[in-house]
Amino acid sequence: ILKYGLIGSFLGISYVSYALYKENNPSKQTPQSDTFSNGSKRKTIVILGSGWGSISLLKSLDTSLYNVIVVSPRNYFLFTPLLPSTPVGTVELKSIIEPVRSIARRSSSEVTYYEADALKIDPVTKSVHVKSVNENDYETDLNYDYLVIGVGAQPTTFNIPGVDKFSSFLKEISDAQDIRLKIMNSIEQAALLEQDDPERARLLSFVVVGGGPTGAEFAAELKDYVDQDLSKWMPALSKEIKIAIVEATPNILSMFPQNLIDYSQTLFTKGGIDLKLKTAVKRVDATTIYAENRDTQQIEEIPYGVLVWATGNAPRDVSKDLMQQLGPEKQNSRRGLVINDKMELVGAEGSIYAIGDCAFYPGLFPTAQVAHQEGDYLATVFDKLHKIDQLKFTNESLNDANKIKKNNAKIDKLYNKIDKFHYHHYGSLAYIGNEQAIADVTVNGFSFKGAGAMTFLFWKSAYLGMCVSLRNRLLVAMDWCKIYFIGRDSSI
Ligand code: FAD
Ligand code: NAI
Repeated sequence: ILKYGLIGSFLGISYVSYALYKENNPSKQTPQSDTFSNGSKRKTIVILGSGWGSISLLKSLDTSLYNVIVVSPRNYFLFTPLLPSTPVGTVELKSIIEPVRSIARRSSSEVTYYEADALKIDPVTKSVHVKSVNENDYETDLNYDYLVIGVGAQPTTFNIPGVDKFSSFLKEISDAQDIRLKIMNSIEQAALLEQDDPERARLLSFVVVGGGPTGAEFAAELKDYVDQDLSKWMPALSKEIKIAIVEATPNILSMFPQNLIDYSQTLFTKGGIDLKLKTAVKRVDATTIYAENRDTQQIEEIPYGVLVWATGNAPRDVSKDLMQQLGPEKQNSRRGLVINDKMELVGAEGSIYAIGDCAFYPGLFPTAQVAHQEGDYLATVFDKLHKIDQLKFTNESLNDANKIKKNNAKIDKLYNKIDKFHYHHYGSLAYIGNEQAIADVTVNGFSFKGAGAMTFLFWKSAYLGMCVSLRNRLLVAMDWCKIYFIGRDSSI
């Protein structure tokens, strides 16, 4: 057994080392030229964003067929499912990001990346106005043949007064850092005050608004941190910490079946997380949340030290501007850019595509799962569009009407082969704290609805499997091991 164990370990370590080496030392890329060997122009695809949708597209796209330009203010891909684990240090931020350039370097041909914001899209001149995110503020216009908008969404505040000014969101790395800083500062400030000082109670009141998966998972992580780590270093103070979720509807995690909702709500309540259900926040100031109870219409005042706002998505400015340009007859959704079943932007079909959270199509929700599948799908569309473009180019140099007719028939056939996007829903998973998770999944016809510690192991393996690189997978696994042995860090 020892012999085979040693051989197995040796082979395993060798394989992982080789795979890591390959991942981080990509083979040489073919440089892009403006034309193909037959003289036809290499078309330009501009991809906006480096999130789930855009990166899935980039990973699946045959980049040798196009001149590919990626524009995003974020020079990395962020694995959002583990973002709620980062403010309290269950997982380190560096473990869940992967540089765009590493991903681009692994594709077959060169990809250009610009760290910039797309400010305005002109569907008539087929150009995007972009501005660098560094302090020099360089601006330029990029021309495209095809544009893929994958800019995601921004947190919605419903214009509720005070939210923008006083709360933290949980969407980006900087948000996670901001929340961590606020939590640590609140705890340290509270420690200076007398136990009966109401200001101490306020500072130790951590409120999450929105009981969707973002809010619920973050509250669960925060509770773990307080119970498992802070309790060791500040035993008395940790007991004074209050965590609440304020949710406008009667349930948190409403995307799950009722039995899993009930399971989660019971676990939260038993663990000491205060669930303020049917309670909608109306106003926020520097110290207090004013929320209306939907049954009694009474306004409850909730003092807070840290406020995390997680009430869903709203379109970004660049998307709103494009919707306005195309007009309300074509773009009539408040949720995002209206697309058809081939991911084409309604009003700019054939040249602009939108995927992920920035896009709206009935029945598709703003999840990583949807964005990922849309990105993969679009790569297959671009393969076919390239073949079509090549046939069109051949036609331009032909004099033989018969041959042109044949080619046109092939073109029609290829267009017909561009299938509609078909979404496979694999289900949902959520971490609910105390090493428990809930799952409502269906894979290859096998359905599983469950909750508890075993489901947590499933949750862990599923998310490890979904990480974008082996490097991420190893780092996340090491972070999880680390907290068992040395716990989470309680400094900034
Ligand atoms: P994003 O991933 O948000 O990427 C948008 C990209 O566009 C970013 O790179 C951004 O920098 C860039 N960008 C922004 N503005 C511009 C601009 N003007 N010009 C150019 N680029 C721009 N979904 C799940 O299915 N499962 C989960 O477990 C899950 N967990 C989540 C946890 C959290 C905390 C959050 C916030 C979301 C979670 N989601 C989950 C939802 C999921 O993250 C989103 O649905 C997904 O990220 C959408 O992908 P996207 O590519 O559309 O947008
Ligand atoms: P969400 O839209 O899913 O939930 C927001 C919640 O905030 C809703 O329950 C809503 O009732 C509540 N709300 C809105 N206004 C309120 C107010 N004024 N006062 C109190 N409550 C209010 O948003 P979330 O959680 O940010 O998720 C965004 C998207 O990302 C969703 O599509 C979600 O499915 C996905 N996601 C999936 C995860 C997973 O599968 N584990 C994890 C995190 C996000």
